[in-house]
Amino acid sequence: MHLNKEQFETYEDKGFVLLSECFSKSEVHRMKVELPVLFSEDTPKRVLEEEGKTIRAVHGVHGTNETFQRLSQHPRLIKPAMQLLGSKVYIYQFKINAKAAFRGDIWEWHQDYIFWRKEDGLPTARVVNALVLLDDMNEFNGPLFVIPRSHREGMIDIVAQNTNNKSKAEKEHPDWVSNFTAKLKYSLNQELVADLVLKYGIFSIKALAGSVLLFDSNLVHASPSNISPFERAVVIVTYNSVENIPLPMSNRRPEFLVSRDYRPIEPLSEDALLIESLTI
Ligand code: SIN
Ligand code: MN
Repeated sequence: MHLNKEQFETYEDKGFVLLSECFSKSEVHRMKVELPVLFSEDTPKRVLEEEGKTIRAVHGVHGTNETFQRLSQHPRLIKPAMQLLGSKVYIYQFKINAKAAFRGDIWEWHQDYIFWRKEDGLPTARVVNALVLLDDMNEFNGPLFVIPRSHREGMIDIVAQNTNNKSKAEKEHPDWVSNFTAKLKYSLNQELVADLVLKYGIFSIKALAGSVLLFDSNLVHASPSNISPFERAVVIVTYNSVENIPLPMSNRRPEFLVSRDYRPIEPLSEDALLIESLTI
């Protein structure tokens, strides 16, 4: 699947494009049944909410779970990513954000690229996020908020925040955890967000499970907590151009957060998520 002209132009113009119901109900089901096991594994790949019980996110499981490996190499994600970046791509980051019913916490306002630039030495923002909805996303269950066109600001170079104000999870875990808790290291302050919203407006993503949101890594985004009885799990696969390899860094984040396998991904077949076994 390739993006048509209108979709391509929407992405360039607004910094995001929504592909409604890109994956079928059975494909979504195939992915959702994997979650309980992945969420129950006690590993550093897993990040809990501040209260220490609820699963917030699981990272890098495309390396170990076959269904999510297939998703990460699916033509409906890889082909648009190659088209938008104008080159072959590899998987830079893979995460599942759980945003559990009644308990899922916020994501503060931020841009993604600043984390990758400052923490991983990613030379340019030539990456694309593919957010795959595993549940319907609506006004109740902590939907993604975006500031359309804010990617045009480029990377807003803010000073790392929250260094003296660490949460429980941050105190107990390695440095990189502050990139995934409800208190983000590079969150944007309220004044800046207010100015950006005044300039560009604000938009809340609402879509059915199986839809895919492609978004620019400099698009300013956030999400509120989920106090509804509805789950809101999403997968976010970040594809990097093979021409945008990170610079050497002294203190590298673990491989399950930032892949160092720079080999280009070849798309699998269209039915990759449905067929029983696959030689990858
Ligand atoms: C993110 O910014 O990576 C996550 C946002 C969300 O899951 O709502
Ligand atoms: Mn983000």
